[in-house]
Amino acid sequence: MAHTIVIFGASGDLTSRKLIPSLYELYRKKRLPENTRIVGFSRTKFSHDAWREKLAGTTAAFLGKSFDAALWREFASSIFYQPGDAERAEDFSSLSDFLASQEGDQQAVRVYYLSTAPRIYAPILAQLGTAGLTCENQGPCRVVIEKPFSTDLATARELNQKVHGVFHESQVYRIDHYLGKETVQNILVLRFANSIFEPIWNRNYIDHVQITAAEDLLVGSRAAYYESAGILRDMFQNHLLQLMTFTAMEAPARFEADTIRDEKVKVLRSVRAMKPEETISETIRGQYRKYRDEPGVPPDSETATFGAIRLHIDNWRWQGVPFLLRSGKGMSCRTTQIVVQFRPAPHMMFDSGAQTSFEANRLIIQVQPAEGIQLHFQTKVPDAGMKLRLTDLNFNFRDRFTGAMPEAYQRLLLDVMHGDASLFSRADEVELAWTIIDPIQHGWEHPSKPPLALYEAGGWGPPGAVEWMCRQHREWFDSCPVLK
Ligand code: BG6
Repeated sequence: MAHTIVIFGASGDLTSRKLIPSLYELYRKKRLPENTRIVGFSRTKFSHDAWREKLAGTTAAFLGKSFDAALWREFASSIFYQPGDAERAEDFSSLSDFLASQEGDQQAVRVYYLSTAPRIYAPILAQLGTAGLTCENQGPCRVVIEKPFSTDLATARELNQKVHGVFHESQVYRIDHYLGKETVQNILVLRFANSIFEPIWNRNYIDHVQITAAEDLLVGSRAAYYESAGILRDMFQNHLLQLMTFTAMEAPARFEADTIRDEKVKVLRSVRAMKPEETISETIRGQYRKYRDEPGVPPDSETATFGAIRLHIDNWRWQGVPFLLRSGKGMSCRTTQIVVQFRPAPHMMFDSGAQTSFEANRLIIQVQPAEGIQLHFQTKVPDAGMKLRLTDLNFNFRDRFTGAMPEAYQRLLLDVMHGDASLFSRADEVELAWTIIDPIQHGWEHPSKPPLALYEAGGWGPPGAVEWMCRQHREWFDSCPVLK
């Protein structure tokens, strides 16, 4: 069956930096279904050719060596542009006529990709409904909704209602690009395609789990968005909670959208609700020192660019095992990693000498950029009595697989075209994620909020975050991956 992908917000950054390069890469790898056409829709006026030309430049710049001009021309003949305003009904009738003229009597899967500013999602959804564009007479229709999916639980519910006014839940693909990352999907493989991890993947053996998403990048020109989002809405509500659910969920019976999402939802439901006043002891909020000098940031901005949060999952597997989530801009390096910190050996018969304690085992899932897995364990130092040393087994995807790691959007776009929603969030899932984040956000906005700790860019966030761990008799695993 033919496929038509309509991108709303076609002149935006996401389209040129991620969507079009990913679709081109799928075409180059011969994975894009035959007869796929891409139609851009946004207010800027372009002819088909002018848009193709603009995209050729941005795609070439983004992909570097893997861009082939001749192949691009072949691919670009299926790219079209339809100017229009998300609020004007006539523009949607024109879009409808244009799509009909392209598809003719052909059956086609329609994918509407909302890559606009979030405030335009609702008008677009309404216009799609009014223009009859959601009618499935000529083939299935799906809608992809970019993050952020609203700003709190109330607005998420409102948006879900609007979505469900025109689409059935099975047609909806709420995107979190972290789920398109190979290493995130590999968490499921590591846990559920191997038998050796499951018996120890619980409170009897695990002391705590650390999930870090650090970025050396600063907010830069994104202040307009970032001021209203901050680290909680930008990184925790979506990416960090997704990593947590994959790490904590029970084994689904099948790799199917609803069986997977049911298990993730159970984890979110089991997260102990934090009262806003508990954010003083359960969270750390920070801001990098030069943030207020960024263009567009008010000089008294209280927006957090760093956060650390302790969550508890109240179920049999995880009772008493804190999940310590941390994310920040202006950190030492870009690294996303999950550290499963095991309990120490119950009795140590080796003389520790000058050492006061032995580090316990840990399993580190390197999500990016040094994608892989490491297992840390004690070994004997040769020819040094019974001296011990922590060493590691190191698996790196790049050593074992040739070719570059694919961009997350390639997998996600293909899944939408194939109608597989396993790696997309369901309505109840996003709402539950807001249920966890909202009280923390309220606590951070309350007069008795935790202090905003300033930190120098280029480190690991505010020193208070280290003391906070120390008070728990724990330590962050701060390590910048070595890239080969
Ligand atoms: C986005 C956030 O969702 O994720 C950005 O809005 C952040 O602020 C980005 O930089 C991180 O994504 P990645 O794939 O680079 O880890």
